[in-house]
Amino acid sequence: MADTKNEMLETSEAQIAAHWKEEEYYYPTAKFISQANLVDHDVDKRFSLENFPENFKEYADLLDWYKYWHTTLDTSNPPFWRWFVGGQLNVSYNCIDRHLPKNKGKAAIIFVPELENDPPLAITYQELYVRVNETAALLREFAGLKKGDRVTIHMPMVPELPITMLACARLGVIHSVVFGGFSGMACGDRIADSGSRVLITMDGYYRNGQVQDQKEKADIAVAQAKGLGAEVDKVLVWRRRQGKNLSVTPMLKGRDYFMDEILKDYKGKRVAPVPVAAEDPLFLMYTSGTTGKPKGIQHSTGGYLAYVTGTAKYILDIHPEDIYWCMADIGWITGHSYIVYGPLALGTTSLIYEGVPTYPDAGRPWRVAEQLDVNIFHTAPTAIRQLRKLGPEEPRKYNHHFKLMVTVGEPIEPNVWRWYYDEVGKKEAVIVDTWWQTENGGFLCSTKPALNPMKPGSAGPGVPGIHPVVYDEKGNELPPGAERAGNVCIRNPWPGIMQTIWGEPERYVQTYYAKYCKNQQSKDWKDWPYFAGDGALYAGDGYIRILGRVDDVINVAGHRLGTKELESACLTVPEVAEAAVVPVIDPIKGRVPEVYIALKPGVTTDPKEIQKKVISAIENIIGKMARPSHVWVSEDMPKTRSGKIMRRVLTAVSNNMPVGDVTTLANPEIVEHIKIMVQSQTKRTPAGETPDDIKRFGQNE
Ligand code: PRX
Repeated sequence: MADTKNEMLETSEAQIAAHWKEEEYYYPTAKFISQANLVDHDVDKRFSLENFPENFKEYADLLDWYKYWHTTLDTSNPPFWRWFVGGQLNVSYNCIDRHLPKNKGKAAIIFVPELENDPPLAITYQELYVRVNETAALLREFAGLKKGDRVTIHMPMVPELPITMLACARLGVIHSVVFGGFSGMACGDRIADSGSRVLITMDGYYRNGQVQDQKEKADIAVAQAKGLGAEVDKVLVWRRRQGKNLSVTPMLKGRDYFMDEILKDYKGKRVAPVPVAAEDPLFLMYTSGTTGKPKGIQHSTGGYLAYVTGTAKYILDIHPEDIYWCMADIGWITGHSYIVYGPLALGTTSLIYEGVPTYPDAGRPWRVAEQLDVNIFHTAPTAIRQLRKLGPEEPRKYNHHFKLMVTVGEPIEPNVWRWYYDEVGKKEAVIVDTWWQTENGGFLCSTKPALNPMKPGSAGPGVPGIHPVVYDEKGNELPPGAERAGNVCIRNPWPGIMQTIWGEPERYVQTYYAKYCKNQQSKDWKDWPYFAGDGALYAGDGYIRILGRVDDVINVAGHRLGTKELESACLTVPEVAEAAVVPVIDPIKGRVPEVYIALKPGVTTDPKEIQKKVISAIENIIGKMARPSHVWVSEDMPKTRSGKIMRRVLTAVSNNMPVGDVTTLANPEIVEHIKIMVQSQTKRTPAGETPDDIKRFGQNE
């Protein structure tokens, strides 16, 4: 990154990152340490590379296996790693059945509806067992699903979502949960790619106090999938409120079925968990990459569950008696790993909240925490910034007490971290800043809560068994203390790592391994570092600070979006000739996408009309969360002489940074035009920081 300066066309998130100064350490309290799961100072030795891969047996031993594995890690075909080979297990058994003898009456899930007058609903492990069995029976007998089939699930944050996932897992059916906020078209693309015949959705749900129609997206999704050659023969519709239909869309006879009506036929049915191989896929999760086509990240059963269970125990410090609340959406990887699978495998109580954190006001999360005595709280910087902005004093009004709090998904500014620590955590809670990705299954870098001090703004060292390394563009190692940013990689495989990209093994190798693999013929795993796609600084104390993506991905309020996907959506507007999407620093959302449009020659449409069309194209093709903060309509784009759009220049303009030398452009004069247009209409300070604290990428190199 450092040596690609003026010739660089693109600018990534990492390059607009604020470089805040190194912070002082904060230490966990004695009270926290006295109860923590991981207090053994030898853990790093146990999980050293010398003991790799057998060290991960410790995580797999947290699970119940029908058949124990014979090979901990098979690396014979890099980078297609195979963990716990020969082992057989069932995820639904591990998350439910095995807890029944001692804990059947304990809450597995507490559902908190968004409307505050609707009471929370606790679902015991026994009730979860009954509901998952009945749902599994329906999926097997009514929908005809069996091991290895794929099912797309497009649902909001309700208990029926994990119930459906666990029912799939009980049968060995591979689920592909699409975040409920994605549009019908985005869902349809994912249905087609995964080859799902069945779509499971819900009529509607509540968000910001309003009913949202979810089922209407199913019709669009099915039509979109059909256009791509994939036939959906059943749409199964859960109902948010008994006896009501929150969707205005008619049910299509012979295709659409209300789950509650069909479930009557499966009352009391039990389905024996299907033993699956450790290497059988548990789920697909689509995520954005550098091309317009999302990647179906394929996760295993045994390695994945072992890894999320181990990290939930040691990093989240989950004990069975805790009340644990992660505010992420189950439609993203954080929700899969750390709302559903990790916490339930450990037999704890996992809280599911339907709505937005600030509804009806910014005191809501703290009221929920107080009322239900939540003691572990997990959220993202965007939510923390928003809650701080709208209710800086709110946490003081409530008598909640967290022992541990998590931040995930984006870099957190030190002053935001301190508010979280002082006000939300009341200086009692440990904070873990966990860095990882959809592809990783579970945490990669974080402090170990009872063993490492916290440092605001830094994720921390690799978690047990994860050995990070930072390389420059040429593949030279930037050791701890190097003071230059580079690309963070992981030296070794780990059980939670994806297996492949669904149907695209070559893309998997190219995206994650080709960059730093010196010899693709090598059978030695040491030659295959995993390339994460994030820029990072490696501090002298071994803590990693993540700067953001180094590719065409933007994390908007923790939602991962590909700029190419956004650009393709813009190009569906007939008047648009060219589109470029760039990341812009935002005080609440961390980053937001900004769109630049050049119109086709002769188009005289009012730019305001074009802006509306572009926004609605993005919302329809991707989803409302991808809505850009601005659409700039310009007569041309800054281009190289060979005609490539210089996104770097646009990013600089949008972020109020120096544009650098533009004299070599084919059309340098356009830069000034664009600058005047943008700067006259915007005024920005970067996320959570005062201008004095800010040092830009490149300035410290
Ligand atoms: O850029 C990093 C950022 O989120 C990206 C992964 O996004 P996704 O696959 O959607 O998973 C998000 C939740 C695990 C990463 O490439 N990211 C994630 N966690 C952090 C982070 N950036 C800074 N600090 C973090 N703790």
